[in-house]
Amino acid sequence: MCSQGDEGYRLLKEYANGFMVSQVLFAACELGVFELLAGAPEPLDSAAVSARLGASPRGTELLLDACVSLKLLQADVSGGKAVYANTELASTYLVRGSPRSQRDMLMYTGRTTYVCWGHLAEAVREGRNQYLKAFGIPSEELFSAIYRSEGERLQFMQGLQDMWRLEGARVLAAFDLSPFRVICDLGGDFFKDPLPEADLYILARVLHDWTDAKCSHLLGRLYQACRTGGGILVIESLLDADGRGPLTTVLYSLNMLVQTEGRERTPAQYCALLGPAGFRDVRCRRTGGTYDAVLARK
Ligand SMILES: C[S@@+](CC[C@H](N)C(=O)[O-])C[C@H]1O[C@@H](n2cnc3c(N)ncnc32)[C@H](O)[C@@H]1O
Repeated sequence: MCSQGDEGYRLLKEYANGFMVSQVLFAACELGVFELLAGAPEPLDSAAVSARLGASPRGTELLLDACVSLKLLQADVSGGKAVYANTELASTYLVRGSPRSQRDMLMYTGRTTYVCWGHLAEAVREGRNQYLKAFGIPSEELFSAIYRSEGERLQFMQGLQDMWRLEGARVLAAFDLSPFRVICDLGGDFFKDPLPEADLYILARVLHDWTDAKCSHLLGRLYQACRTGGGILVIESLLDADGRGPLTTVLYSLNMLVQTEGRERTPAQYCALLGPAGFRDVRCRRTGGTYDAVLARK
């Protein structure tokens, strides 16, 4: 029997309501709540926020109080009236232009990823991404495999940069890269375009977009282009050996299902792609952050 005190029931409610928490965050970013409060000379009451955002007084008050509950805003109450300001968390991570801002990634996640996740059951049933159901766009008509428009592609790229600013140093420190003189960080259409000569190719958050067959094709091309003694650095979020953790990576793998053709992989699965492509001495390092590193040599 379940009761409020029951741990299973508590967990279930937390899971079921998780999307509401995400939506409070996305909506507050979308409306510009954090920029407004960052730019205001003093904390603002809900009426002032609603007037300046052009949003309804009732909706604004409810959203602001939800943000307080989530520690995104702080409320000071005097004379029965609350005024709101950003918490340190919001000033650091949510305000556009802050050096550690994650705003672009949150905007992309709210506008695109979240909508695809609304069709997770269908994605599981069909085994393919959900752009058609989410946005009425068949995969083959997307601007560039996974982007609906040039604007969305740019926002996604900005979002990826948001994460690199926080996580990049840790990933690049996973291996000593000093022996490699010419390093090429691959982007663009690496399936078709001629590849520049380099000692080390970086494939960051690329292989997880693609099927094993397409990864093998790309790795084969890179092996051909790579100088002897050179290598390849794969940067991805590594699954545990049994594929059932860490939770973030398991969720990212489902995200690859709803948005791409790919999946996250275990170290053994990366070895199974790199070895047959010709690469040797494959080493996998977990960084303790979101992204890990796999180095292999030609
Ligand atoms: C997820 S992004 C990763 C970008 C960057 N390496 C990073 O980690 O921030 C995927 C990369 O694959 C490249 N790419 C190549 N072909 C693509 C395609 N058909 N659709 C989407 N991305 C493609 C994009 O140019 C982009 O650089």
